Amino acid sequence: MVTKLLPADEAGIAEAAALLRNGQVAAIPTETVYGLAANALDEAAAQKIFEAKGRPGDNPLIVHIASMNTLRKLAADIPPVAIRLAGAFWPGPLTLVLKSTGKVASAVSAGLPTVAIRMPGDERALEVIRRAGIPLAAPSANRSGSPSPTTAAHVMADLAGKIPLVLDGGPAPVGVESTVLSLVEEPLLLRPGFVTREEMEAELGMEIPVSKAVQQPLNEGERPQSPGMMYRHYAPLAKVTLVEGSAEDYKKFLKERAEDGVWALCFTGEAPEGIPAISYGDEGDAASQAAGLFAALRELDERGARTAYAHVPKREGVGLAVYNRLLRAAAFRLVRL
Ligand code: TXA
Ligand code: MG
Repeated sequence: MVTKLLPADEAGIAEAAALLRNGQVAAIPTETVYGLAANALDEAAAQKIFEAKGRPGDNPLIVHIASMNTLRKLAADIPPVAIRLAGAFWPGPLTLVLKSTGKVASAVSAGLPTVAIRMPGDERALEVIRRAGIPLAAPSANRSGSPSPTTAAHVMADLAGKIPLVLDGGPAPVGVESTVLSLVEEPLLLRPGFVTREEMEAELGMEIPVSKAVQQPLNEGERPQSPGMMYRHYAPLAKVTLVEGSAEDYKKFLKERAEDGVWALCFTGEAPEGIPAISYGDEGDAASQAAGLFAALRELDERGARTAYAHVPKREGVGLAVYNRLLRAAAFRLVRL
């Protein structure tokens, strides 16, 4: 299959919408990462997403909507907290897991009685949904297991030849996937993102617990609250290890490990001696780290890194999302200095 790469303008959006209405897939920009979209109401269309990505069928997809009316069609028993959070953070990088009405294709929910829904903040994504006239299931547009794509070039690198169209909307400004909050029972943070736990707690006036899987590997046989949590994720080919410690100790640690194929994944301005480095953002600015992380992970592979030591971010605010993705890229390897 030839993959068309078009700018996300009027014509590109019209072409994507037509493909999606016809049961095909298309990659589209969102404010978080690029998504691989298909009609969320059509079983066969949704199946094409799993095929193109090589995604396991038990990992459900996020449904993207452009109106509150669609939310009411897809989700049942919507609690007041959902309306409150949607009012505060939609359109934007927040996904709510709710009870499903059963209208979404069962492949989308991976057979679960629940459905994950968000209204994306990117105006072009919203326009594709409106023009297609259907809710769109869209996971990140990467091959399953590799870092999420934050540019159209990343999508092409992973999926060219497997999908008919990629819309190029420039680099995704947020850079990490949406926050996923379950509201099926009491609120539970399943995946940290750009909308932070702290912001949602302030909005709701209550504490929001964080799923254990956010910061720890699951035990053998343990069932994840969010199926996506169980997979090795966001992983480059290089073996990544997180390193926690001061800038000084980190530099010393790296110097002792300088060797062919060993790289540093560090903050801007931290130039280690004797070791090639890629910066993924500013130390005091978690949003810049989120925006730079996935491109930095992909660059490690392009440069042929075999081993990489990443300086850990702070675990609060948006930093928790950066930490969560890095920890998975590192398969939970963490060294404390
Ligand atoms: O920012 C994003 O959310 C991007 C863009 C494209 O919108 N999409 C994205 O999709 O990150 P994906 O498939 O890579 O991640 C979906 C996450 C997975 O961790 C999955 O397990 C969880 O959402 N999820 C989906 N439906 C769920 C459900 N019914 N219950 C619990 N978790 C669910
Ligand atoms: Mg993904």
